[in-house]
Amino acid sequence: MTTLRGTWRAVTSTALEMDGDRVRILDQRALPDDERWIDATDPAVMEQCIRTLAVRGAPLIGVAAAMCLGLLARSGCSAGHFRDVAARLRAARPTAVNLMAAVDRLTGALVGDDLGPLPAVAMDVFDDDVDRCEAMATLGAALVQDGEGLITHCNAGGLATAGVGTALGVVIRAWELGKRVHVFVDETRPLLQGGRLTAWELRRAGVPHTLITDSMAALVLRDGRARRVFVGADRIARNGDFANKVGTYSLAVAAAHHGASFHPVAPFTTVDLACVDGAGIPIEERDGAEVRGASGAFGSVRWCPDASPVFNPSFDVTPVSLVTSMVTDRGVFTREALRDGALVRFG
Ligand code: MRU
Repeated sequence: MTTLRGTWRAVTSTALEMDGDRVRILDQRALPDDERWIDATDPAVMEQCIRTLAVRGAPLIGVAAAMCLGLLARSGCSAGHFRDVAARLRAARPTAVNLMAAVDRLTGALVGDDLGPLPAVAMDVFDDDVDRCEAMATLGAALVQDGEGLITHCNAGGLATAGVGTALGVVIRAWELGKRVHVFVDETRPLLQGGRLTAWELRRAGVPHTLITDSMAALVLRDGRARRVFVGADRIARNGDFANKVGTYSLAVAAAHHGASFHPVAPFTTVDLACVDGAGIPIEERDGAEVRGASGAFGSVRWCPDASPVFNPSFDVTPVSLVTSMVTDRGVFTREALRDGALVRFG
């Protein structure tokens, strides 16, 4: 059987389309109301899309940057120009290590000035992510009990990856396998990825769900409406501490307090073995305007004086002590296995 893996060709995912000559991304700032696509073939446009979260989710921003660089490599530019552009894309978001890992795979394949092999490497980044999502969905769905209430935070679905997603891929796969789940969707302040994006994906997949604000999660767990939590990750330290969308840490604390199971779900491209523990993970801080108000397809609203200072870390770090088990594309690792160096052994 011939395989197309790694062959330069048109590819599509929920939020990215590459037809061989151009790459387009679904503008996630406009969801759920508007499904508009942006041509992000120009690396400056792609960089801006990553910075502004038009394209987002740790795996997908790595894939999107790789697609853009694959096209650039085919354009006949110089190796020097390629390296400059790659460095700018690499720095567009500081916490999601998948972005850096994807760009480094391309620049690492540069031998002298020959850009020839790079499009195939870019395509491998895409194909890898699809395969890794499949593996996580299968492994994670096996943890889900029939009739179980679940919570997820932010968006870790098809919108955030090239494949079926990480945490949300698990949830949707469990439903597809006939497990009658009900998903409580954390709205996810301040940019509302849960309310805007996860609810959009679950509706499309036909999975029963209920939107809650982040501050309601503890009582949903206390009342036993949900007994299991699946979240994504943007960077995982070698000891299993991990960064994910701000609010994940408080969700993990609430889950532990109420005896619920808590599972980060992420591919090994999210593991950063150079980070010894969570203290080494750089946390992106974003503009205070995101917290003083909200803007989107609905327009914009502000409820706080412009002059009021804001603390807006985009991610927080959850310690491995709060993890029941971590679902990866290479296996499911318990807290004890993570503490024992499983990520180093399997990485
Ligand atoms: O700021 P975002 O929307 O890019 O944050 C995304 C998350 O925190 C996701 O949970 C994470 O990237 C994993 S996505 C599969």
